[in-house]
Amino acid sequence: MTKRTAFIAGNWKMNLDHQQAIALVQKLAWSLKDASHDYSTAEVTVFPGFTSIRSVQTLIDADGLELTLGAQDISRHDSGAYTGEVSGLALKKLDVKYVLIGHSERRQYHAEEDSVVQAKTAAAFKHGIIPVICVGETAEQLESEGAAAVPVRQTLAALAGHASLGEFVIAYEPVWAIGTGAVATPEVAASVAGKIRAAIAEAHGDDVAQATRILYGGSVKAANVAGFLQSSEVDGVLVGGASLDAEEFSGIARFQKHIVL
Ligand code: PGA
Repeated sequence: MTKRTAFIAGNWKMNLDHQQAIALVQKLAWSLKDASHDYSTAEVTVFPGFTSIRSVQTLIDADGLELTLGAQDISRHDSGAYTGEVSGLALKKLDVKYVLIGHSERRQYHAEEDSVVQAKTAAAFKHGIIPVICVGETAEQLESEGAAAVPVRQTLAALAGHASLGEFVIAYEPVWAIGTGAVATPEVAASVAGKIRAAIAEAHGDDVAQATRILYGGSVKAANVAGFLQSSEVDGVLVGGASLDAEEFSGIARFQKHIVL
């Protein structure tokens, strides 16, 4: 079986200016260093807003930090008359390694339907940035279709029609659990992750499915992270609110210490 490195992702959303971003990354790096965090067993990535990316990149570079950098969105276009968009070319130049695509807040407030998510995934592949494709059901869809149907459908739609697939990550985030304090049970998260992996295997082969990291997201905290990661199906977490607190996020990244074996 392929060994997948755990992935701990902090989505800062529209929070923090670039100075606050620098302060948070410094605190986070110190906290992880203090705890002798082993980045080879759990990769830690921050996803600042666009105005903070350059500052965070400079800090990571200057201090030789092992944290990795992500962006919260990418344009489907490379360049041109697309006011307000940010190109994968420019992100790559800033050492951005990952990009969130299809977060439920973008699907909801920016009309990012599956075809947009697919096109942005193509842009990420083109520029050598690893897409973190976010999928998940609303409370109504949970009622009508159960937990797995929508995330599986959204995953397959994002991955369809590419000449070849680069590395990608799937983040299963039930919409009703984001920022609400409500969480999926670890059993449901594991079961949905398993169904997403099975669907990827069927559509794109078992090697791709086994190499793909599948995360859970939605109200993850240091106190509940271990439950999600106990299942071998769940390879990490995408954290919103709790990633804005250095100690809390560091506690999440050190999840192995919470797992009772
Ligand atoms: P939350 O957000 O941890 O604040 O629920 C998760 C996300 O939106 O990625």
